[in-house]
Amino acid sequence: MNRETHDTVRAVQWTGDHLRLLDQRRLPGESVYLDIPDAAGAAAAIRDMVVRGAPAIGITAAYGVAMAARAAPADTSDWLKALEPDMECLAAARPTAVNLFWALNRMRRVIEANGTDLPSALEAEARRIHEEDLAANRRMGALGAALMGPAGAVLTHCNTGSLATGGYGTALGVIRSAFAAGDIDKVYADETRPWLQGARLTAWELVQDGIPVDLVCEGAAASLMRLGRVGWVVVGADRIAANGDTANKIGTYALAVLARHHGVRFMVVAPTSTIDMETPDGAGIPIEERDASEVLSLGGQPVAAEGAGAWNPAFDVTPAELIDAIVTEKGVVEKPDRAKMTALMK
Ligand code: MRU
Repeated sequence: MNRETHDTVRAVQWTGDHLRLLDQRRLPGESVYLDIPDAAGAAAAIRDMVVRGAPAIGITAAYGVAMAARAAPADTSDWLKALEPDMECLAAARPTAVNLFWALNRMRRVIEANGTDLPSALEAEARRIHEEDLAANRRMGALGAALMGPAGAVLTHCNTGSLATGGYGTALGVIRSAFAAGDIDKVYADETRPWLQGARLTAWELVQDGIPVDLVCEGAAASLMRLGRVGWVVVGADRIAANGDTANKIGTYALAVLARHHGVRFMVVAPTSTIDMETPDGAGIPIEERDASEVLSLGGQPVAAEGAGAWNPAFDVTPAELIDAIVTEKGVVEKPDRAKMTALMK
């Protein structure tokens, strides 16, 4: 945790014995860490939004498998069979962020290798997934900031920071790097209805780390762009298909359309663990639909007319042609398409 790099928050922590998760449902009012003792607890934490953000979900699932292995009888011989129910439970927690399935596949490969002391091997793999994510974020921060250059102010959506990852963040990592380099002086954060990840989480995280942030209602984004107040829109991703189509928090697609109309550049920042080459395009990405009550109420208080229904997709898909650059730890793909994504992932 480093004040100089404007990065002090760690939401996912491994104690050496179990997981500790910052309960993101209670931010910004309270900073409370929950002790998660087992895989079922990790799955529930993902499902119930204690932990959220694609990379953080993957890391949590990996530790979930490590905890399941520790809890298995010492004389277990068929580890895949023993751990399968917990892995299925973790996989069912949320459908869109591919990092969840990517992390479970990495853990599965360790199980299939069937070495000695599998619980220790699985814990080591989960730690590696965690550390690699942090390193990828730092690398993307440098690459994205170099691409951005002097931008003045940027607009971001949802929360893509230390809270959503192993640390530092994806889009927010680029913002941290660009701020440290003096290339941006202000972040506009969309409030991000209905969970308010922008208002509750991004604003909190940036305030903690001394980066100036102004919150805007989603509806203000068009005016912000028309007035020339932002040079870039910088967002994360939950799943990037093989042609570059990108699923991210609901509202991202609208920002991409607005950005193109106003000549504002649009950057997606995501580690290669978010790229799903098995899904040809955005139409194949499963979009989570959450309960209508999340839209009809706020903080437990009803905000809609009684009797109204609500449609609550948690994500949308931005077509690749609206994206100026996808920044990964393996490099930057400008004007993404299938051929360039294939070359990146080789
Ligand atoms: O529903 P959430 O809060 O898990 O959605 C998170 C997002 O959409 C993020 O933008 C995405 O996971 C990238 S996080 C680095």
